[in-house]
Amino acid sequence: MTGGSRLVGEVRVTGAKNSVLKLMAAALLARGTTTLTEVPDILDVEIMAELLRRLGCEVGHDKIEATVEITVPETLEHRADYDLVRRMRASICVLGPLLARCGQVDVALPGGDNIGSRGLDMHIDGLERMGATVSNEHGYLIASAPVLHGASVWLDFPSVGATETIVMAAVLAEGVTIIDNVAREPEIVDICQMLVEMGARIEGIGTSTLTITGVNALQPVTHRTVSDRIVAGTWAVAAVITGGDITVRNANPEHLRIALDKLTTAGAEISTTDDGFRVIMSERPKSVDIVTLPYPGFPTDLQPQFIALNSIAEGAALVTENLFEARFRFVQELARLGADVRTDGHHALVRGVDRLSGAPVESTDIRAGAGLVLAGLVAEGVTTVYGASHIDRGYAGFVEQLTALGASVQAQG
Ligand code: EPU
Repeated sequence: MTGGSRLVGEVRVTGAKNSVLKLMAAALLARGTTTLTEVPDILDVEIMAELLRRLGCEVGHDKIEATVEITVPETLEHRADYDLVRRMRASICVLGPLLARCGQVDVALPGGDNIGSRGLDMHIDGLERMGATVSNEHGYLIASAPVLHGASVWLDFPSVGATETIVMAAVLAEGVTIIDNVAREPEIVDICQMLVEMGARIEGIGTSTLTITGVNALQPVTHRTVSDRIVAGTWAVAAVITGGDITVRNANPEHLRIALDKLTTAGAEISTTDDGFRVIMSERPKSVDIVTLPYPGFPTDLQPQFIALNSIAEGAALVTENLFEARFRFVQELARLGADVRTDGHHALVRGVDRLSGAPVESTDIRAGAGLVLAGLVAEGVTTVYGASHIDRGYAGFVEQLTALGASVQAQG
């Protein structure tokens, strides 16, 4: 890619990766055919489809219509193999639904990835409180519970994954489960709403405490996936970093309140539209401090994009990462473009420079990749982002959309 173009135009965001994968897993809870709409055309959806097929489901993915149709049999297999789990950590989200449907589940442990240790202790603790026996054997998490019963669960931290696992187990458990300190991300609200449409009884959706009364069975439904706030936020940063003008369609600005407010502080003019928002930037951005926190705090999944923005902003910014310790790894790549970033534990000090200069860089995960592409958009000369397949896992048609907005970018290989 060659930096220097101002991005101008319109993009439409589809459903959220971090919701649709869980909605696909939630489909396991009901026998019959569940249909999901606004499904993004990304590799992780294919991996989840393959996992569901191995469990005995029929899965059809219509990429033109952006739908996935999952037909779930009465009897399911209960094993998620390492070859799939290692390709996609989110495979762990079949743990709760399989335990609820089969009374038993073997899921390969995902192991390390590029953004930190990411434990499963809260998932396990929640399931044990509901009567499951959980062990770790030969690299697999083995859980069994002939009967799951309601329980009181308190999460040490509002973990997205643990909230989803426990909710999906509780909807078919006997009795009432109360989960305190749950995650409140829009993707959690989305899965809870789908479960309610399926017949689940969940109170407190969108708050820190969920009360779930187990039912005997759930019914399949058709459900529209919540729009991807992280993709929408990435386009907003793209407008600001390039001094551009982008209208983001099918996006909910309410889901991005802090991030959009930060961009306003950086100098952007942001207005809401019928189905999204518009971001116009006409000056050099001012630097903005960031502290990542669980929703409604600033999302960790937009932290690398904001570091890229701060790297060419006027002034210095302090960025604090509270969720994934290794998410600052990518700043070494940003430094190859001339960025001035110093990290110390959870903190990064970003001193804005007047210009970045294009260079080959390596993307280590989805969001780091997005951050490097944003930096490449404003770096003088040519930037080559290696490992761009990471980006394809979260951003459907990224290169095509960038090109349509006026960027000079080519996909290779
Ligand atoms: N954690 C534990 N024990 C647990 C669960 C979590 O220690 O039992 C720790 C993790 O190690 C991590 C923190 O808690 O430090 C946050 O974990 P959380 O469970 O909230 O995140 P997740 O479910 O693993 C999802 C998204 C991430 C996103 C985070 C935070 C999916 C597939 N992944 O991960 O998305 O950053 O929530 O919002 O939904 C991405 O899309 O690039 C991505 C990494």
